[in-house]
Amino acid sequence: MVIKYLNLYGSRGLTLVRGEGQYVWDSNGVRYLDCHTGHGVAFLGHRNPRIVSAIKDQLDKLITLPSAFDNYLRDEALAALERIIPKGYGYAYFLNSGSELVDFALKVARKVRKRSKFIAFTNSFHGRTFGALSLTWNPKYREPFKPLLSDVEFLKYNDVSSLDKAITDDVAAVVVEPIQGEGGINPATPEFMKALREITESRGVLLIVDEIQTGCGRTGHVWASDMYGVYGDIMLLGKAIGGGVPVSIALLRDEIGNQLGEGDHGSTFGGNLLALAAVRAASEVILYDNVAGRAKAVGSRLINELNNLCKDFKVVREVRGAGLMIGIEMRFDPKPVIQCLQREGVLTLKAGTTVVRFLPPYLINDDDVNAIVSSVSRCLNEETTRRINA
Ligand SMILES: Cc1ncc(COP(=O)(O)O)c(C=O)c1O
Repeated sequence: MVIKYLNLYGSRGLTLVRGEGQYVWDSNGVRYLDCHTGHGVAFLGHRNPRIVSAIKDQLDKLITLPSAFDNYLRDEALAALERIIPKGYGYAYFLNSGSELVDFALKVARKVRKRSKFIAFTNSFHGRTFGALSLTWNPKYREPFKPLLSDVEFLKYNDVSSLDKAITDDVAAVVVEPIQGEGGINPATPEFMKALREITESRGVLLIVDEIQTGCGRTGHVWASDMYGVYGDIMLLGKAIGGGVPVSIALLRDEIGNQLGEGDHGSTFGGNLLALAAVRAASEVILYDNVAGRAKAVGSRLINELNNLCKDFKVVREVRGAGLMIGIEMRFDPKPVIQCLQREGVLTLKAGTTVVRFLPPYLINDDDVNAIVSSVSRCLNEETTRRINA
């Protein structure tokens, strides 16, 4: 073969061929507990039966249909979604990925507020398209692609004192993750979220809450916004909401959706029928399978056990997170620990520069928690020894 795959993520050196629930299997039949879940996508489990069956049903009917044409499935997906989303959103708009959705939200903010400036925060991650990248903090992702959107200011995450001066009435929107994922599993403080809501509201600035990673029950609440009682004017959903199928959804308040019309945006694949079938089924899983409650119960146990374990290791700075969105912050590069965990049969991923991130499916059970804790223990011992001998 002459053509090579342009892999921009770096290789994990593992060929995975099958997944079910919280597990994946490699080409040699070895089973892994999946706490990577494709950057958090498979939170509802690999091949969740309800989602697989909905997609298979739709495959036999009609695969593609632009939104200019009606279809009952679109209404069903919206009805199912409406049962799990917070109250107050009058419109839903379907796209295909998180980054694309962030770009759409920025366009919407500019159009409805007729202002150009955006505010984001240190350690934020909103994606890699030009708009989303302009609001993403990490210089490593940004520098080679400058100039990005010029009218963006980054404020310190969780610093309430900076908000009043910076969020002036020429700002179109503030974009925030309630818990920063890629940036290092950093939860917002309740005071910060509350102040953000109050100041944006008083200045007519849109608050865009990016729940692409935190949503669908992962934090032990159906939406992280529920944890704070703070809701955006636009809320962004992605990753788990399609159960593995690429789909993202913007929820818009009536006042915002009412100002948008034909031609303001478009997407060939946005809201395609397979995605809608997946969203309908995923919403039902979230509702009927008490996904958030289960994530909260098993997540608290996992966080407690990791905390108990890690306090004895000098290589660890802190364990933090909510529900099943958990990070172990190391004092050093977390890569050797992530590699060790992979050898142990536990797949995790990096966040920030020092964090081992766990984004397991809500289906993990007590045995899985025990397996994770034992593997982390062995890998932290290995890392401690390696550091002493280095
Ligand atoms: C909070 C957040 N926003 C946006 C994105 C971008 O989503 P995508 O990779 O689907 O473009 C991500 C991806 O990790 C994310 O975590």
